[in-house]
Amino acid sequence: MSPPVIAIDGPAASGKSSTAAAVAAALGYAHLDSGALYRGVTILALELGAPPEPEAILRSAEARGLTLHYDGRAFEVYLAGEPLGERLRTAEVTSAVSAVSALPAVREWINARLRGLVRPDRPVVLDGRDIGTAVFPDAPLKVFLTASPEVRARRRLQQRNEDASSARVEAEARILKARDEADSKRPTAPLRKAQDAHLLDTSDLTFEEQVGRIVAWAAHPGLPKIGG
Ligand code: CDP
Repeated sequence: MSPPVIAIDGPAASGKSSTAAAVAAALGYAHLDSGALYRGVTILALELGAPPEPEAILRSAEARGLTLHYDGRAFEVYLAGEPLGERLRTAEVTSAVSAVSALPAVREWINARLRGLVRPDRPVVLDGRDIGTAVFPDAPLKVFLTASPEVRARRRLQQRNEDASSARVEAEARILKARDEADSKRPTAPLRKAQDAHLLDTSDLTFEEQVGRIVAWAAHPGLPKIGG
């Protein structure tokens, strides 16, 4: 039986997490943002200092209780019993996360956790970079979400309530491109579209339209119907 998973992958700031959360709410599924767990591991790696030693990072993750907690709607990343919340999204974490995510031992540790959370009675919308290619290659529905670097940069600045002048958009687009390149060129589970994923370019779509497309695709025999 295929896992009750909708896999949404795509480059940085393509709107995966907000789209995945809205799709999950519409379908009554749980939402799990795998990037948040990579960011949680990165916080511990930064605390340990460079260069990141995978064994030390993962020992710290176990000892300090880096976990995912289900709140009835979504999985949130906790450290020592407290949600990491906005600490996951600092510029420092964002600039270090690709290097930490390239470590095969870190990916194995995270994948074991992600796979352990999916149960037949709890379907999940899971977003990331390698969900459809490596974590759940037999997911019944896979979506590769993308948009032009400029559109993604503008959306990210607006999401952070920052000035979206053309110079700022250009600078942010360069940062996003560098992270996409690092994520696409790493040897282990690089960012790429699974062959059987629906390609969804959201450059000219409204948020409601992109969510609606995925919800329509979710009418699939391999996916349970729960209703939001
Ligand atoms: O939200 P944003 O698009 O900025 O990124 P994210 O989903 O929070 O992911 C942060 C980073 O985690 C990515 O740039 C990847 O390096 C890594 N990641 C990954 O390698 N595999 C995943 N399944 C999810 C995230």
